[in-house]
Amino acid sequence: MSVARGPGRAVVGTDGPPGQVALVTGAGAGIGRACVERLAASGTRVALLDRNPDRLAEVAAAVRGTSGDVELSVADATDEQAVAGVVGAAVERWGRVDVLVTCAGGFRGVGPVTEVGLDEWNAQLEANLTSTFLACRAVVPVMRRRRYGRIVTVASMAARTALGQAPHAYAAAKAAVVGLTRQLALEVAGDGVTVNAVAPGVVRSPRVAGLGPERLRALAEETPMRRTGTPEEVAAAVCFLAGPDASFITGATLDVNGGRFMG
Ligand SMILES: NC(=O)c1ccc[n+]([C@@H]2O[C@H](COP(=O)([O-])OP(=O)(O)OC[C@H]3O[C@@H](n4cnc5c(N)ncnc54)[C@H](O)[C@@H]3O)[C@@H](O)[C@H]2O)c1
Repeated sequence: MSVARGPGRAVVGTDGPPGQVALVTGAGAGIGRACVERLAASGTRVALLDRNPDRLAEVAAAVRGTSGDVELSVADATDEQAVAGVVGAAVERWGRVDVLVTCAGGFRGVGPVTEVGLDEWNAQLEANLTSTFLACRAVVPVMRRRRYGRIVTVASMAARTALGQAPHAYAAAKAAVVGLTRQLALEVAGDGVTVNAVAPGVVRSPRVAGLGPERLRALAEETPMRRTGTPEEVAAAVCFLAGPDASFITGATLDVNGGRFMG
């Protein structure tokens, strides 16, 4: 167990080896931002990747105001060279990457399968699946060298069950993220590296909050706990899987959804 170094906040279970370094993709908002804040609060040095510079600067300011040491990269998580560059920069600065959290992703718009254009299909797979693959592939050699690593991918409840409000391509991509998570977990299990997924339900990130109060109320009503989740609640699950208390867990998918899907 560990207690945060940040002022006034006790955060349990987020620290790994001393001097731990994490990389979070999609770090500028929502679940990614909450992960950065939680990791930084426990003294983890964090490399932040996001394509939105303003959001990145906002998170960095918030984290620097507490205890954090951060490195910012404005980059697209689907850009192979850029992702490799961000991992390289973290290694150059800190010599290691212990934790990877892949939050970059998401979707816009829902519709029948006959209206899904090939461009849209490919874009969703790239945003959610290829981005995850690229980040995992880039950190594995770094983690292997130190014989330690914690990879946490962010899937979705849409990967676990069919939903009324998820696009086909997004559901397929997130299910593939779960498959990639398992397959990679098997490959690196002997190298001291664990690979797990979280599968959030409806979480009030800025994007989801934008749906408006009426839609959010309806989504809460569909949830056994009668509420939507917070990015901080997902970050807590991510940091559990990224921390020392999850040392014998790999290839797992942790549902964080208020009871809406029970695996
Ligand atoms: N919020 C939810 O209800 C929910 C539920 C299940 C899964 N998820 C997943 O959680 C992750 C985070 O979602 P959220 O709603 O918390 O975040 P969000 O949409 O509010 O913010 C995502 C952040 O990631 C960045 N980003 C997105 N794609 C990127 C890319 N290709 N390259 C670089 N940066 C990129 C955005 O700029 C933004 O700052 C996504 O993968 C999403 O699919 C969210």
